[in-house]
Amino acid sequence: MSWLAEKNLVLGVTGGVAAYKAADLARQLVKAGARVSVVLSEAGARFVSAATFQALSGNPVWTDLWDDRMSNSMAHIDLSRGADAILIAPATADVMAKLAQGLAPDLLTTLCLARDCPLLVAPAMNRQMWEHPATLRNAAQLKADGVVILGPDHGEQACGEIGLGRMLEPEALLELLETYFAPKVLAGTRIVMTAGPTFEAIDPVRGITNSSSGKMGYALARACAQAGAQVNLVSGPVALASPLGVDRVSVQSALEMRAAVLERVAGADVFIGVAAVADYRPATQAEHKIKKSGEALALTLVPNPDILAEVAALPDGPFCVGFAAESQNLDEYAARKRAAKGLPMIVGNLVQDGLGGDENQVVIYDDLGRHPLPRGPKDRVASQIVSHLARLMNALTSPVTPCTTST
Ligand code: C5P
Repeated sequence: MSWLAEKNLVLGVTGGVAAYKAADLARQLVKAGARVSVVLSEAGARFVSAATFQALSGNPVWTDLWDDRMSNSMAHIDLSRGADAILIAPATADVMAKLAQGLAPDLLTTLCLARDCPLLVAPAMNRQMWEHPATLRNAAQLKADGVVILGPDHGEQACGEIGLGRMLEPEALLELLETYFAPKVLAGTRIVMTAGPTFEAIDPVRGITNSSSGKMGYALARACAQAGAQVNLVSGPVALASPLGVDRVSVQSALEMRAAVLERVAGADVFIGVAAVADYRPATQAEHKIKKSGEALALTLVPNPDILAEVAALPDGPFCVGFAAESQNLDEYAARKRAAKGLPMIVGNLVQDGLGGDENQVVIYDDLGRHPLPRGPKDRVASQIVSHLARLMNALTSPVTPCTTST
């Protein structure tokens, strides 16, 4: 589920070359379910035309303080009245200066002054403009006034220079907005998680692994962070970017994963084992590449430690959540695993429903029974798992039993 669904957003676009990225941002916001009204500054319109934003947002674009399309000709009031937030991306040094001073010479600055909703700005400018004491002073003033500053990013600039001042990419802005709107049901919680497969080396170039993509674990790490948790993610080898705000450490083998978890788990409130940890590893790892001989080759495998069971057995350990990926008899096997590992909550899924793909269908099992979640994208499933986890954690600290059971 996107936390931007049904949100009314005003997207302010001012005059920077990054305005072309704002067109993509508008498209992504609409795709996430937000209703987007674009307000273009005069300089912004020099970079991208109103027609582009109108087509991408599906709504009229506003540029003029004296626009009489609003019923009462009060665009500067009406546009921000129903808004959940105003986001200015890109925000030039000039617009930041005006906002910091409370100046209102055009529609965008006027509606920022007349707003009763949060204001977020994504600066985009040449690195020297960003580093100028006046800009930094204005940014600090805006922060002090409660404005959320997103970025800027470091990297190559349109002028060819390299430094701080690039606008954050639309994907990053979208993720930050999601985080901004997500209910903070896990605020104050520290979560240690595992995700991805493990790789058990046979020799320097070969090993045993599995087809876990890490997508479910990463979606869950992102959802936990968006819900306000501090997340330590211990990840096996995956081809995924770290979710924003998640502290990730990369490991290869189950033994490395176990060591990284045990290093971090003391004092954690929750441990979630999403990783598909290899059950066995080669008893020995050859120092050099094993040569082909034409003979049969036997590998001796030894069992890996069960990280989740070990953490669940810790005295005063965290609240433990497991995952059970099965190919059949989900209810029976997941319940058995929950009991064997001593877990208050386990998330089960049939491998044919989730492994490697972008969607998943899961059932949560806890002391109250089984709770099937509807099939959906892994990020939506992840935020439903987070809601369930938060309810269970709440129930631990309050006498009321807030979960409903469906059997
Ligand atoms: O026993 P099984 O591997 O099916 O259990 C799955 C759950 O246990 C997952 O949450 C997985 O992350 C965790 N696990 C673990 N260490 C292992 C094996 C599984 O933490 N060695």
